[in-house]
Amino acid sequence: MARRLLAALAAISITVSALFGDSVDCFDGGGKSQPDPTLCDVLILPAGYPCSEYTIQTKDGFLLGLQRVSSSSSSLRFGYAGERGPPVLLLHGLFMAGDAWFLNTPEQSLGYILADQGFDVWVGNARGTRWSHGHTSYSEKNKKFWDWSWQELALYDVAEMVNYIYSVTNSKLFIVGHSQGTIISFAAFTQPDIVEKVEAAALLSPISYLDHATATLVLKMVNMHIDQMILTMGIHQLNFKSEWGKNLLVSLCDTRLSCGDMLSSITGKNCCFNDSRVADYLEQEPHPSSTKNLNHLFQMIRDGTFSQYDYGKLKNVKVYGKFKPPKFDLSRIPKSLPLWMAYGGNDALADVTDVKHTLRELPSTPELVYLENYGHVDFILSLQAKQDLYDSLISFLKSSGKYSSI
Ligand SMILES: *[C@@H]1O[C@H](CO)[C@@H](O)[C@H](O)[C@H]1NC(C)=O
Repeated sequence: MARRLLAALAAISITVSALFGDSVDCFDGGGKSQPDPTLCDVLILPAGYPCSEYTIQTKDGFLLGLQRVSSSSSSLRFGYAGERGPPVLLLHGLFMAGDAWFLNTPEQSLGYILADQGFDVWVGNARGTRWSHGHTSYSEKNKKFWDWSWQELALYDVAEMVNYIYSVTNSKLFIVGHSQGTIISFAAFTQPDIVEKVEAAALLSPISYLDHATATLVLKMVNMHIDQMILTMGIHQLNFKSEWGKNLLVSLCDTRLSCGDMLSSITGKNCCFNDSRVADYLEQEPHPSSTKNLNHLFQMIRDGTFSQYDYGKLKNVKVYGKFKPPKFDLSRIPKSLPLWMAYGGNDALADVTDVKHTLRELPSTPELVYLENYGHVDFILSLQAKQDLYDSLISFLKSSGKYSSI
């Protein structure tokens, strides 16, 4: 394993010098001359669902893609003809983007199911993913473009999405998150100006603490400090669709860990997704993220914390005025915020021990669904997710807040 990794790192450093050694970044305007294809165009409109595309700008200059999806057959579900149902914002996981909610058939995928149930579905896309639209002043080649972790996703991206949807719909919104989408939800809910606009939240594979994660490949990378090595090498963007990204993945497989088992070694054994669709999934996934984000996630595993990014003592003093980064304090999440959480016995990232730790620190008592055979990815890709999970999730949303009487 170590030998393979060294070989991989050597391959990376060669690729990096090839990539950046002779690149002349003379244009750093952030904007692009060609309009990018949109998530609506690529996936949602072809499935027959009305979909509109929005671009919103975060306080730190990122241009995020946001899609609004409805169903042509659902206008009466919430009792008012022609009026949209309650807004729900979907927050995807790491190395994924808004497409995560639309990868199976309309009968199986949560994004479509919510639209068919009459919800006004808003699809979030984190900065750096292919459905977002860059930055007002940095191009993706600029390392400043990748200088963020999930902390900024929570405090800037989620904040902006929530504010925008709240102002367009004039309504509090529901939030549904998966994995990293739950990390940033928990962090955002500790912020009074964000959580006051949230009606209720449903969290799939909920994560705040990560120190009991069992994912073998992840733990190997954590122990080898791969995140810090990559940062030291000056690689700020993690893009597994690039050549070096593919090389890294291939090099990480050895005889004990076949590439076919790679997903299990990252996410746990998934019971219920359709192996024949993996090629379709890989057309969308994985999306890019930042090395700093991976580093922050690995800090959570190493240190057992749910805190802001740790720069090391000296810089922490400069940035935070203390040696240690401030915690995201789960006890600050209002007791009045209804929460629903679903977690799995085979989830190698959202481990049951860590989920219980989260539950101990939350002031409220969330509704819980536990699925013994579910791995991390089953929560969005399982073929039975509707029966196993989504029906319960939708009853929860419909029973929350001002919609409970409809
Ligand atoms: C699994 O995926 C294949 C290929 O897309 C499809 O033909 C098949 O119907 C799927 N099976 C189920 C149970 O959805």
